[in-house]
Amino acid sequence: MSKGNVLVTGGAGFIGSHTAVELVAAGYRPVVVDNLANSNRDVLKRMAAIVGEPVAFHEVDCTDAEALEGVFQTEGPFVGAIHFAAYKAVGESVERPTAYFLNNIGSTAVLLDALTAHGVRRLVFSSSCTVYGEPETTRVDETAPIRTAESPYGYTKQACERLITDHHTAHPALNATLLRYFNPIGAHPSAQIGELPIGRPNNLIPFLTQAVAGLREPLTVFGDDYPTPDGTCIRDYIHVVDLARAHVAALERAPEGVSVYNLGTGNGASVKEVIDAFERATGKAVPHAMGPRRAGDVVAIYADASKAWRELGWKTERSLEEALADAWRWQEAVTR
Ligand code: UFG
Repeated sequence: MSKGNVLVTGGAGFIGSHTAVELVAAGYRPVVVDNLANSNRDVLKRMAAIVGEPVAFHEVDCTDAEALEGVFQTEGPFVGAIHFAAYKAVGESVERPTAYFLNNIGSTAVLLDALTAHGVRRLVFSSSCTVYGEPETTRVDETAPIRTAESPYGYTKQACERLITDHHTAHPALNATLLRYFNPIGAHPSAQIGELPIGRPNNLIPFLTQAVAGLREPLTVFGDDYPTPDGTCIRDYIHVVDLARAHVAALERAPEGVSVYNLGTGNGASVKEVIDAFERATGKAVPHAMGPRRAGDVVAIYADASKAWRELGWKTERSLEEALADAWRWQEAVTR
């Protein structure tokens, strides 16, 4: 027996598709809503191949209240919703701030009204550690102050967190969990789904795997003169399957009201350490060269995720090497 329908906006995207798969594994029926702005229909077939049954899908833009209402009419009632649908490229957000405000904040507003109109009691929101800006400490817990956003993208995450909190004050029946991701990487071990960047990847792992596959020039390490042990920036890279499972845990175990959790491994890895770990995990050399710093990069940040361990009964289970091996298997599958 199904535990109920869960609306998954942006469910054809990188984290959304992995979460929909984990929802099925946990006994839910995900209903994917996606405008395919940064994904494609094939992903639905690949998800179905993993879970062994079709996944409900509606090609709908979440800023379109009428179309979203149609989904509630045909697929409801929902025991919860997970809101991934958003634009997510930091650099692009600087070029197109209006698009980021309209899409990211607009879709959240439209969704909140629909959830309340239909009496849905739980929302899980896809946020980011970017809300902390340049933090005072390298290990960051949820009490760290929200600082001025470095980009319009970062601002939309802060604004959505605020909007969801304000909406809860006005409509307390809708409980919400804000999940602040650190750096999601890897792919499903089946190599059916993974990250599909359009064009030149901005993020480290997709660029690295494409460079190893010979699709790009060697990876440029953005700065090796930072005040870190090996001079390169430190991040907390979390396997996307571990991250996906945290959404199921939040749906089931987050307390009433508005709660917030950092999602990371709790361990930092430098860019050089990532390159070494990739070579160990795959036996492939990473062509790379040192380069200048990238504007806007935080020196070192990793998660104190102990609140999520305590309250959600969730922990990361996959190592950095495993995540990198899965990312490489996925790269090989899409290159073929
Ligand atoms: N890096 C390189 N070379 C590259 C790409 C990245 O050296 O070609 C380095 C970066 O300088 C950084 C690390 O690899 O030190 C990770 O960079 P990513 O671009 O993969 O990730 P970021 O930590 O910069 O960005 C992530 C999310 C954003 C979010 C941000 C908040 O992708 O959505 O964290 O800090 F806004």
